[in-house]
Amino acid sequence: MSGNGNNELLKVEHVTKLFGGLAAVNDVSFTVNSGEIKGLIGPNGAGKTTLFDLITGIQRPTSGKVYFKGIDVVGMRPDEITSLGMVRTFQTIKIFEGMSVIENVMVGRHSRTRTGLFSSGFLLPRSRKEELETFEHSMRILEMLGLETRAFDAGTNLPYGQQRLLELARALACEPEMLLLDEPAAGLNPYETQELTQLLERIKSDGVTLLVVEHNMGLVMNISDEVIVLDYGEIIARGAPEEVQNDPKVIEAYLGSGIGNAKG
Ligand SMILES: Nc1ncnc2c1ncn2[C@@H]1O[C@H](COP(=O)(O)OP(=O)(O)OP(=O)(O)O)[C@@H](O)[C@H]1O
Ligand SMILES: [Mg+2]
Repeated sequence: MSGNGNNELLKVEHVTKLFGGLAAVNDVSFTVNSGEIKGLIGPNGAGKTTLFDLITGIQRPTSGKVYFKGIDVVGMRPDEITSLGMVRTFQTIKIFEGMSVIENVMVGRHSRTRTGLFSSGFLLPRSRKEELETFEHSMRILEMLGLETRAFDAGTNLPYGQQRLLELARALACEPEMLLLDEPAAGLNPYETQELTQLLERIKSDGVTLLVVEHNMGLVMNISDEVIVLDYGEIIARGAPEEVQNDPKVIEAYLGSGIGNAKG
């Protein structure tokens, strides 16, 4: 943690996003403290993904502020925000076609290494060393996720559940201080979901702060230190998982989709 003298890693202040007349995100404020897992839930269309887009620089808020490590990130490019240590995954899988599993992970790592401009000419030996280091680091991540035996298969040939894990691997390769996961359990079977739960706990214990959007209530209530509930772009509840689960406003928001088995 640097700078702002407290434990706040991410601070979202009065963020609003208008699409025409629709407030997809409406005056949302919250903080995520270093080392915690915060769950972000809400019915379909509540504004969860839009909020992620606003935090990670994919879209710009109509109004409001976003601070990461005390740095105002509104107006920064997504890759600039990534290099500050905030990394996200997407609701829709984005595996690079024509790349092996390990290459898909190494791509993430490259966003963290410094070679770039100086990769040619007399600095080449150093860049080869860096490449080997990137390979080994990526392999360790694949091992942690149980994907190492698939390292040289095409990424797009993995079954769906493993493609989701591969996305997580790529995000971890950036060595994030904070991870934003948009529905990491979508499409996973109960066994895979259980494994993901343990994995997220492990990532947390490695010191990574997490903000997790998820429709799987079992998962989100299990892992989250605190849960925020969005509905029609507004925060309608926040608190410990058990408080939020029993909040009449939350139950009402989920009527029709069912809080017990809501699916993306
Ligand atoms: N680019 C856009 N232009 C116009 N409206 C949009 C745009 N992106 C999202 N919306 C609208 O904003 C609202 C919030 O959408 P968002 O995708 O953020 O919801 P969500 O909570 O992620 O939903 P889900 O759980 O289904 O993924 C929805 O009404 C959606 O139709
Ligand atoms: Mg979404």
